[in-house]
Amino acid sequence: MAIRIAIPKEVSPGERRVAATPDTVKKLIKMGFDVSVETSAGTLANYPDEVFKAAGASIAPDTDSLWESADVLCKINPPQLRSDGSHEADSLRDGSTLISLIFPGQNAELVERLQQGSKTAIALDKIPRITRAQKMDVLSSMANIAGYRAVLEAAHLYGGFFSGQITAAGKTRPAQVLVIGAGVAGLAAIGTARSLGAEVRAFDVRPATKEQVESMGARFLMLDVPMDESGESSGGYANIMSDEFLQAELACFAEQARDVDIIITTALIPGRPAPELILQEMVESMKPGSVIVDLAAEQGGNCTATVPGEVVTSSGVHIVGYTDLTSRLPTHASQFFGTNIVNLLSDMGGAEDFTVNFEDEVLLKSTIVRDGELTWPPPPDPEKPATATPAKPVVAEAPAPRKKSGTGHGASSEPLAVGPRNMIALTLAIVLALIGFTAESAPVPHFVQQVTVFLLACFIGWQVVWSVTPALHTPLMSVTNAISGIIVVGGLLGVAGSELNTAAVLGAVAILIASINIAGGFLVTQRMLQMFRKEGN
Ligand code: NAI
Repeated sequence: MAIRIAIPKEVSPGERRVAATPDTVKKLIKMGFDVSVETSAGTLANYPDEVFKAAGASIAPDTDSLWESADVLCKINPPQLRSDGSHEADSLRDGSTLISLIFPGQNAELVERLQQGSKTAIALDKIPRITRAQKMDVLSSMANIAGYRAVLEAAHLYGGFFSGQITAAGKTRPAQVLVIGAGVAGLAAIGTARSLGAEVRAFDVRPATKEQVESMGARFLMLDVPMDESGESSGGYANIMSDEFLQAELACFAEQARDVDIIITTALIPGRPAPELILQEMVESMKPGSVIVDLAAEQGGNCTATVPGEVVTSSGVHIVGYTDLTSRLPTHASQFFGTNIVNLLSDMGGAEDFTVNFEDEVLLKSTIVRDGELTWPPPPDPEKPATATPAKPVVAEAPAPRKKSGTGHGASSEPLAVGPRNMIALTLAIVLALIGFTAESAPVPHFVQQVTVFLLACFIGWQVVWSVTPALHTPLMSVTNAISGIIVVGGLLGVAGSELNTAAVLGAVAILIASINIAGGFLVTQRMLQMFRKEGN
């Protein structure tokens, strides 16, 4: 019997999203799953029961029958108490798998509940922010929507135009927008404000965001303190900054607050309360009618005057503290959320090979409970061991691979002992030595020289690709394109003028493969650039 995916109606007050749409249901069925959707689960997101039925899902008439039928239960919000006093987590059948937001760090009681019986729970909020997992990253897809919606909320409350106007009745300057925090939500807010015609400036503690901000058509604010203090930690998140840095940042925002009409704040370090960056006196210094949208409201807010979930007016400035911005765009938010889940289920092997495989970094990091056993937090990253080992002598470290094949995520930062890489290097040395000793009988002149160059090229290429962080893959592509160019030239020399022999055939093969690499590189780069480009920018 096929694995049954169940989609319940969300019980969080005010939640309009649903974890599947007719489009994602079709994809799940195509992957071999059965899908059932609780009656009226999608109504508030504009997906009535009929469209789910037409897509091939069965409609469960009530909550109990849906949860009982679930092999894999996919929902949006962490399981919680229902209005009748029962808890969603207790409705999860033994042996079934839950896929939803869980926020295990903040929900210890829920994690305990999930360990009852032999359930498995995967937290969508713990999917690592690595390139490969982008298509499953609900935090990014939801933050993108929140950034967009934040600008629309601001535009709704702001009493003026976003784009500058020149009319017979007079002219206005474009709205001045400040975006604080240029993560996913911040960049989406910049893009939306720019497309409405506003002039945007932005700031982030991570210097790497400067280029992204500028590519979206906004101005990056610079502080008086040096930005070489690295604001970036692993996984693309921010570091905690020094007091001196934060003071300089506050001084910058105090000056900006007097000038801008709209502030959108998205600054956050995961797992920590939101930094207070817009203080009461800054609010008071803003022009009456200005708007602040505080996306970090749920974590305490970046603005001291924010009231989570509400819009308040202080000194004539409207401060929006909505915590449900994504739910205010329920149709597309459900579509994106559902697609992220489809991609995760596909990563888990689809219906045929469905498994919670800890060889997969994504599942290792996002699985909270497996068959009733607590598996969170995951073991520390091999690249960043949790504790230093000061007693060890200082020896050059082999760069850690991003992901190892086979089992094990143990630290690979051991001194150069007999690790797998050293074994490979040793083997290579032995092979080379053997070739050297037998070189005289080699059929091709310069054989040893050519084999050495070939092996060195393989070794260096392998080192280069495996040691590069995912964020640098695009620049790496340009480098490999350059290398491919050299290969094409070499291949042409090999082919030119010679009759049809092994060298000419190999030269032709090299030209073909290098050309594919170059063309593919250009295509991928083009697609990535298009993701950041807005029309007219
Ligand atoms: P993110 O982690 O990608 O971006 C946060 C950015 O803030 C990072 O670029 C970080 O470097 C920056 N930052 C941290 N401390 C800073 C500081 N002191 N000054 C300037 N920048 C600083 O997070 P993402 O995904 O963009 O989400 C942003 C916020 O939006 C989060 O608080 C998230 O919870 C919230 N959110 C709110 C929703 C709502 O309905 N209100 C919905 C979805 C997300």
